[in-house]
Amino acid sequence: MDTPVYDVLLVGGGGAGLRAAIAVAEADPSLSVAVASKVYPMRSHTVAAEGGAAGVVSSEDSLDNHAYDTISGGDWMSDQDVVEYFVETAPKELTQLEHWGCPWSRTPDGKVAVRPFGGMKKERTWFAADKTGFHMLHTLFQTSLKYQSITRYDEWFVSKLLIEDGRCQGVVALEMLTGQVKPILAKAVVLCSGGAGKAFPFTTNGAIKTGDGMGQAYRAGVALKDMEFVQYHPTGLVATGILITEASRGEGGILLNKEGYRYLQDYELGTPLDPKDPNHPQKRSMELGPRDRLSQAFVGELRKGRTIDTPYGAAVHLDIRHLGEAKIDKKIPFVRELCRNYAGLDPVHEPIPVRPVVHYMMGGIHVDIDGATSIPGLYAAGEAASSNLNGANRLGSNSLTELLVFGARTGHCAAEFARGVDAPNEKALSGQVAEERARILEGFLQKEGGEFRVAELRAELHEAMESGAGIYRSEDTLQQTAKVISELRDKFTKVKVDDRSNCFNTELITLLEFENLLDVSEALAHSALQRTESRGAHQRSDHEARDDDKFLKHSLAYKTDGDPRIDYLDVVITRWPPGERVYGKPVDSSGTDAKKEDS
Ligand code: FUM
Repeated sequence: MDTPVYDVLLVGGGGAGLRAAIAVAEADPSLSVAVASKVYPMRSHTVAAEGGAAGVVSSEDSLDNHAYDTISGGDWMSDQDVVEYFVETAPKELTQLEHWGCPWSRTPDGKVAVRPFGGMKKERTWFAADKTGFHMLHTLFQTSLKYQSITRYDEWFVSKLLIEDGRCQGVVALEMLTGQVKPILAKAVVLCSGGAGKAFPFTTNGAIKTGDGMGQAYRAGVALKDMEFVQYHPTGLVATGILITEASRGEGGILLNKEGYRYLQDYELGTPLDPKDPNHPQKRSMELGPRDRLSQAFVGELRKGRTIDTPYGAAVHLDIRHLGEAKIDKKIPFVRELCRNYAGLDPVHEPIPVRPVVHYMMGGIHVDIDGATSIPGLYAAGEAASSNLNGANRLGSNSLTELLVFGARTGHCAAEFARGVDAPNEKALSGQVAEERARILEGFLQKEGGEFRVAELRAELHEAMESGAGIYRSEDTLQQTAKVISELRDKFTKVKVDDRSNCFNTELITLLEFENLLDVSEALAHSALQRTESRGAHQRSDHEARDDDKFLKHSLAYKTDGDPRIDYLDVVITRWPPGERVYGKPVDSSGTDAKKEDS
């Protein structure tokens, strides 16, 4: 069979991949586009997003407000040129999605409804009840179907990037139905393969989020940027980690400790709520503080012995009972559905036991504002990439918008690149393809012997990551995590494979995914070790202060034969000099919490 060759290949069929594919198809219908995904696109993790997508819509809001919230929420680690482009493009992309059929929830007078969200001082989160990701993905998927130029490779697992003559010219992928390992060539490749929450045991992430694109890019020589910034979402369902959306707090839900006390008023999220004034801006600084601070407050309660013991570990209560059945069913019906199905409780009548769980990687493949990596022809977008938007802590509802804004821009840039280069050199790539085929089939599938099951190794990784690189870390805990990761690399060479079948061999796929998780975890642990300060989601108990002199910089982890090499890159500051993060104060007319941040 002839090797397929495309102008642009998207790896990943979630929100970013589909938005990028549509952008290429729209930019130039003569360009051929392929989307390769290890799952059917509608099963991509975008489908699980619940709460909403941020974009300025109200005349009482401004682009500067959105920019400032994003920058201060990210503890000044966001590149401000990227943020400015993002906030300006966000409403256009959300409106475009509406025109493609996304059923945004509406106010009674027919306007797009917005809800409050964590760290956003104005209401700007568009939503479709609490199934926003489902509706967005569905809209993108259906839109992609109308373009003849897009070909899909559903259930193909990409395992390697083909780099030749200094540029990326395609991938090698395992066709999961047949077990065949084949090349898909392209002039430009865009990695949109999502995050890597599965490096941790408790996560809102689906089983598919194993850092595949991150691992492939890292092995090909691209840096992984800002990997130490891992977002814990404060309200994962306690037993499973399933996301209980921030929208439940946006709609008025509150967090209570075992004494029934609204403990967030004791933490530095802003000054306590005035109970007599339900509309006071301080209202948002409690349950709608930023996720890093809320997750850290949970640890504070745990240390004070004020959390609730459950068979699955410590929890606090998310209480939405006071919202009433009608509002719950209208605004957050999925929360009720999830609680009934996965916790056996009805949140109309009972509080929900929740705990912080890993939700999102602020870090990822090092790209510029166009989604370009250091390898010509290789791009990345969505959670797989670190576009420098989210800094040290992403604000809830910025990521669904991010995948639209940067999916589209990256798709356009990849299309432009593809128009200017020669077709991939199939002959020159054949050696690499054969090598990868042998590595997978002979090195794993047909391999005899071995000592360790991949499930055991994954459990060890999980334990090391959660205990050493979790909400709080220190030199000692991170050193221990790095040591376990290095031992796991050795053990992985002695992994044993029981399933020899070719058709949907999930054991083989799990092995390939684990390899990516190991690479991502290695970069994460070492980046965290070397950042001897606390900022956003990276909290070092041995270095509690933020250190702008040394660390107002992105970290870049490069793969070597030993420990990764960590370099640094300056953060781009345009209009908002580094300041103190302040929540619970009204935003002044310039869109900033003026004075405080002008230090
Ligand atoms: O809680 C949520 O609905 C999550 C939203 C997000 O991560 O943006």
